[in-house]
Amino acid sequence: MAATIIDGKQVAADMRAELKTEVTRLAADGIVPGLGVILVGEDPASQSYVSAKEKACEEAGIYSDDNRLPADTTQEQLVALVEQMNNDPKIHGILVQLPLPKHIDESAVIGTIRPEKDVDGFTPGNVGRLVIGEACFLPCTPHGVVQLLARSGVEISGSHVVVVGRSNIVGKPIANMLLQKKENANATVTICHTGTKDMASFTRQADILIVAAGWPNTVTPDMVKEGVAVIDVGVNRVEDASRKRGYRLVGDVDFEGLKEKASVITPVPGGVGPMTITMLMVNTVESAKRHAGVA
Ligand code: GUN
Repeated sequence: MAATIIDGKQVAADMRAELKTEVTRLAADGIVPGLGVILVGEDPASQSYVSAKEKACEEAGIYSDDNRLPADTTQEQLVALVEQMNNDPKIHGILVQLPLPKHIDESAVIGTIRPEKDVDGFTPGNVGRLVIGEACFLPCTPHGVVQLLARSGVEISGSHVVVVGRSNIVGKPIANMLLQKKENANATVTICHTGTKDMASFTRQADILIVAAGWPNTVTPDMVKEGVAVIDVGVNRVEDASRKRGYRLVGDVDFEGLKEKASVITPVPGGVGPMTITMLMVNTVESAKRHAGVA
């Protein structure tokens, strides 16, 4: 079977167009959603994510307050900036780009974000609400993954979803989202990680395989069954002398191999990536609406 390639760029563009219409309507009522963005240090991947988030906000009519801080910023300075955004009525969502430099305690910083401005869904309160199935801000990458599956017509309810990776940003939240007894969920979920023995014995059972391992070629064609739906969350740079910049981006799965066996598959780039930013904007607009009492 040759897979249908899920066009994340197109799905994201459709959703952003809908969002722009909504932002325009809100602006007529004097409501301008605002996102506070904080990046500490010069990690090139984080810089490009943050630039893309800022550009997308501008295009959608969302106000963004961009803060790029040096790598030696102290935890106290960072917490003070988060507090300032917590108290700024123009800001409805706060995004602290992760990872933070090693000398900063990530959970301490995330923990200072007001839950009602936690559009990344990373604070313990939001995570807890997600686990027990209460309304909350859903973390953007997993939220985008569910949208891609649903909008590609993949049946989630009753499927066996195998997640590879147990990060707080992707693996744990996507697993928890998909096992809820809700629409676009209700799956049987298995999580594989670096401690899993014989990972292929689990991935071969997957109707839906979500890979967020952080390593190229983590999943090869011998590890999946015919007809699996594959969502590749990975973004890895591999050396490529034929490219001007000296590298190209690849995901966590052997895309060329898997596309011969899968029913649907996301490419890298152009799959999950554009959806993450889109869901951040969706959450920010939702936060602004709640704040204005029109949600
Ligand atoms: N680093 C990688 N993905 C994310 C994300 O979705 N949000 C934040 N804040 N940092 C990230």
